[in-house]
Amino acid sequence: MGEWGILENKWRFYQPLSFFPDSDFWLEFFVFVHIYLLAAFLAIREAIFDRGDRILKIKSELFSSPRWSKRGEKRRILVIGGDGTIGSEIVKLARQNSEFHCHVVVHHKNSTFFENFLKNDPQITVHEADLVDREQVLFLANRLKSVQFEVAVFAAGIMLFPECRTSDGVEMHNAVNVIGQTMLYELLHSDIRRTVFLSSATARMACFSKSEELLGVYAGPYQAYASSKLNLAVYVHEMVRRRHVSAISMHPGTVPGHLYRFANPVVKLLNATWLPSVMRSPQMAAALVLCTVFRDDFQPGAYYEDLETVNVTGWVPEKERHRIYDTIQKRIEMWTEH
Ligand SMILES: *[C@@H]1O[C@H](CO)[C@@H](O)[C@H](O)[C@H]1NC(C)=O
Ligand SMILES: *[C@@H]1O[C@H](CO)[C@@H](O)[C@H](O)[C@H]1NC(C)=O
Ligand SMILES: *[C@@H]1O[C@H](CO)[C@@H](O)[C@H](O)[C@H]1NC(C)=O
Repeated sequence: MGEWGILENKWRFYQPLSFFPDSDFWLEFFVFVHIYLLAAFLAIREAIFDRGDRILKIKSELFSSPRWSKRGEKRRILVIGGDGTIGSEIVKLARQNSEFHCHVVVHHKNSTFFENFLKNDPQITVHEADLVDREQVLFLANRLKSVQFEVAVFAAGIMLFPECRTSDGVEMHNAVNVIGQTMLYELLHSDIRRTVFLSSATARMACFSKSEELLGVYAGPYQAYASSKLNLAVYVHEMVRRRHVSAISMHPGTVPGHLYRFANPVVKLLNATWLPSVMRSPQMAAALVLCTVFRDDFQPGAYYEDLETVNVTGWVPEKERHRIYDTIQKRIEMWTEH
């Protein structure tokens, strides 16, 4: 398959691509079909998982976990992407613990969530940053430096963005979902005890580029989104393996929201009408994220879906995992030093 590698995952059917080894069109087409089949499967699986009062059970598991309920001075939590559909629910849920002071990173302060909720809460400090702007990431890291965080949630992300690159050639999904966030993490990690990065189950369907410029490739919006989420899960896995930091990645659930603003008109219409009543709610996704990161048997380096680990990174050949990690690491260094 020419320029692309596929995961060693039994639920995929990419073999026909060997007839079109250099075609971005067909690669994107196959990823697109796989992602919609996966979304249909996840919608059912998540509806079964969430049925009844599961959200109450998840919340009570969270509230009774020792890490959540212990007392202490100056307990702090960091939420990146705290203005997103899931991010804003994570902030609201974290605020139910009156011991926590939340530092929330938003893209713009002009949202209604900022006006109605974040602005007036003395237990919340809001920071504004554009994660694809290295100067802003450095500035933010300086402001947050030496604040000790018990937990950090990296929940910023974009999906199905049109083809677009930073001035140094990083494709936009990789820039926001991977480089901007992991760079901030690298700058702060010694002040953070536990971290969760929001990846996505679409990583299961991703292909990885064999090109030198793997952060710059763009066969289409579905490929770019899925590859960036795979890159993020691989980065977390390799980082933990090499440096024993305490971080995981996870799929928070298939939740309709702002992320769908670049989807096709059919999905947008469904998102505005029928999907929110049948798909996972952002409140449930937020409860799962915090429950996963606060639990006692947290397994650093793992990728989680619905409280279980899935060995997605094991489906990427070891050599490729190392290459993806090294490429991201090198780009972070470039953004940090420049
Ligand atoms: C918020 O501000 C940014 C730029 O400052 C602008 O691009 C965006 O459209 C604004 N959003 C709203 C909801 O006003
Ligand atoms: C999708 O639906 C959510 C929840 O109903 C809404 O907040 C969001 O703005 C919608 N997005 C689009 C692009 O219609
Ligand atoms: C994940 O898969 C890899 C490769 O197949 C394997 O070496 C590894 O032991 C697996 N990890 C777990 C936790 O099962």
